[in-house]
Amino acid sequence: MTETRPSDGIVGPGSWSLHRRAIQALVGGVNSPSRGLEAVGGGAPPYIARADGAYLFDVDGRAYVDYVQAFGALILGHARPDLREAVVRALERGVLFGACHEMEVRLAERLQVVMGAMCERVRFTASGTEAVMTAVRLARAATGRRLLVKFAGSYHGHFDAVLVGAGSGASTLGLDESAGIPDGVKADVATLPYNDAETAERFLRERGDEVACVLVEPIVGNFGLVEPEPGFLQRLARAARRAGALVIFDEVITAFRFGPGPVYPQLGVEPDLITFGKILGGGLPIGGYGGRRAIMEQVAPVGPVYQDGTWAGHPLSMASALATLEILTAETDLYPRLGRLGQALAQGVRDLAARHGVPVVVHQRGGAVCAFFTREPEVRDFGGVQRSDARAFATFFRSMLARGILLPPSPYEVWYVSAAHGEEEIDKTLQAIDRAMADVARAA
Ligand SMILES: Cc1ncc(COP(=O)(O)O)c(C=O)c1O
Repeated sequence: MTETRPSDGIVGPGSWSLHRRAIQALVGGVNSPSRGLEAVGGGAPPYIARADGAYLFDVDGRAYVDYVQAFGALILGHARPDLREAVVRALERGVLFGACHEMEVRLAERLQVVMGAMCERVRFTASGTEAVMTAVRLARAATGRRLLVKFAGSYHGHFDAVLVGAGSGASTLGLDESAGIPDGVKADVATLPYNDAETAERFLRERGDEVACVLVEPIVGNFGLVEPEPGFLQRLARAARRAGALVIFDEVITAFRFGPGPVYPQLGVEPDLITFGKILGGGLPIGGYGGRRAIMEQVAPVGPVYQDGTWAGHPLSMASALATLEILTAETDLYPRLGRLGQALAQGVRDLAARHGVPVVVHQRGGAVCAFFTREPEVRDFGGVQRSDARAFATFFRSMLARGILLPPSPYEVWYVSAAHGEEEIDKTLQAIDRAMADVARAA
């Protein structure tokens, strides 16, 4: 559990005071372990009072340029007025109907356009976890098989099966496997190394007739940002189909992150089912899964695969998602601009690290950036991230926080530039990085 100790000057007295109260009331002081500072030296995180654009403001009035962006759930920045107005207009018509309504129909129709075949039929949930959980159940029902194949260090939510060999917050705390998962569940999960097509092909050759589905983040966002090597996803999908297994792309992070739709068309390979969430909700809780009609119509009430949800299709989430999609498709320069800012940030990190003699590998795609503190020439799988220097990252994180730049408090998370960031924020960030790299070099 996070210790209480005198303020070390990184966050102010108001945050420390709330942190002391939090650890006496909330387990570990948090509602999501990813938000604590355990992996980066401990102490109080900033307690946020309000958010605006690229900035978070804490209870002590300190401003932070925010690169967490709600762990990738935001791409338009905080409290964007047109998005807020859409939610307020929906709120004025009622909060929750517990009944069918027009906005969920309109959103599903919009997804049929932007997601194409992967949303011939769609179902909304309240979170990415629920979406993935049901997609896996659906694949098991459709194939009559039990085995789920996934990849080490990926994160797909917090239901039992996908916490076997999980990344993201679980890796941050050194929990490659949550306690409390029954052996029977573990026996039905196989975890393979990402970007290793040969191992996947061999596994699917040898045990393919047991495999219900291969679940994969097409671009990994949960052990940093790691792209598939050329041919990896294609070979994986081919081997899965040869074995009669379904391919599920978990696009909870990647959908709408690199363009106003899923990322898979950019990678040249199509899955059988897709899951999404995060960005689509525009800051409100959402998840969803979709696919071709023949598979999706195995879900109740048409078919026998059951999935339900009090909050599913929540009117406020639907309103927020419709407004988000409208902005993402209308603002044609949004993604190219994110790409330019992301590139400037990534190149800045490389240059400043080199100036201070700090070895790093920096990955970037669009507005998503992450730096691995490693002497290895490349990072292509979970092992590469695990071998990176967590202590150097912690020094870097604390130095950046002290200078008003908030990064995710883990070397396994991605930094997100939002549409609200501009050159001013990137310049300010690079100035902080210059000092933070000096701190890392000094501490080495
Ligand atoms: C790829 C991926 N899948 C699923 C999830 C779970 O989504 P949620 O937190 O909305 O349950 C996450 C969350 O970070 C994710 O990154």
